Amino acid sequence: MAGDKWTLGIESTAHTFSFGLVDSCGIPYPSKSDTVRPLEGGIHPREAADHHRDFSSDLFNDILRSQNLTPEDIGAVAYSQGPGLGPCLRIGASVARTISSALEVPLIGVNHCVAHIEIGRQQCDCDDPVLLYVSGGNTQVIAKLQGKYRVLGETLDIGIGNMLDKFARLQGFPFPGGPVIEKLALQYIEENPDASLKGLELPYPVRGMDLAFSGILTAAQRLIEKGHSLGSVCWSLQEHAFAACVEVAERALAHSGKTELLLGGGVACNNRIREMCTLMAKDRESTSHAPPRMYCIDNGTMIALLGHIELHNGRVTSFSSSGINQYLRTDDTLVSWS
Ligand code: ATP
Ligand code: FE2
Repeated sequence: MAGDKWTLGIESTAHTFSFGLVDSCGIPYPSKSDTVRPLEGGIHPREAADHHRDFSSDLFNDILRSQNLTPEDIGAVAYSQGPGLGPCLRIGASVARTISSALEVPLIGVNHCVAHIEIGRQQCDCDDPVLLYVSGGNTQVIAKLQGKYRVLGETLDIGIGNMLDKFARLQGFPFPGGPVIEKLALQYIEENPDASLKGLELPYPVRGMDLAFSGILTAAQRLIEKGHSLGSVCWSLQEHAFAACVEVAERALAHSGKTELLLGGGVACNNRIREMCTLMAKDRESTSHAPPRMYCIDNGTMIALLGHIELHNGRVTSFSSSGINQYLRTDDTLVSWS
């Protein structure tokens, strides 16, 4: 790869198709993305994949234009190899193979979860954090140990974002539901400041170092059916679900002796979870960090960054091993960089 070339990143694990760039020094630049937003129901993998195929060409032109580049300025192509929805991942991988072979530049398949971690470390200048990775599909508490990002605790059923999205959908709000719940909860607590002392009763999602969110989803819906206001349920749902994540993250800090907490994933856009993490870290004489929101949600830039890091550590993906892996885990990937 020539010294002044850029790395292109392609994200397509689920609802979002996105291209991002890092320059030859690994400096990230904003992505160009489009997200499928079904009017009703959840994300259908095949429909999302069709969306990604339809948008890929325009978004490719947009990302090149955003930095006044031509295709020849691209020196490597990284893509999300997993985890995610099979049909969506396959579109990203085939777009990546096409660009890489047309330009005759290296191809690097990367782990989507590890990309969330590395963009956070880069943006927040964290050295060795405990990561609270809260997204739609994933909820994990992670720390690096002996060359891998180890999962110290995780959801045993659905991701926290999926839980929020499902609850919002039951109230008639389309994907993504997390930001709507955040808005309704904030409005409620501003109008009812005393509510913070009471709250509604919901099951607590902590299971040792793990979490489980399907019970709290059912219980929150029951509260709605019993006539509690939507705002009060949204507020209590956030308080219970976020406190559970923060509790597991705190235990991970205590056990590992680390002093930095780093938030990542789409739910890390939420101000309340950011605030809870800051309070907890302060109590422990530690620090809490959250990347800019455009790098919390799925984005091509984090894929480009991890591709750049892996390439500079000597890893490329041959065509024969460029297949996707829907079930790739955070701790499957060897972390050969510091
Ligand atoms: P992954 O493959 O890492 O699980 P993902 O496909 O879930 O990623 P992300 O973009 O990381 O995608 O996260 C999307 C989730 O983030 C959705 O569930 C959405 O509701 C949630 N979200 C986005 N903004 C907020 C917010 N302000 N408050 C709460 N949740 C939010
Ligand atoms: Fe993600």
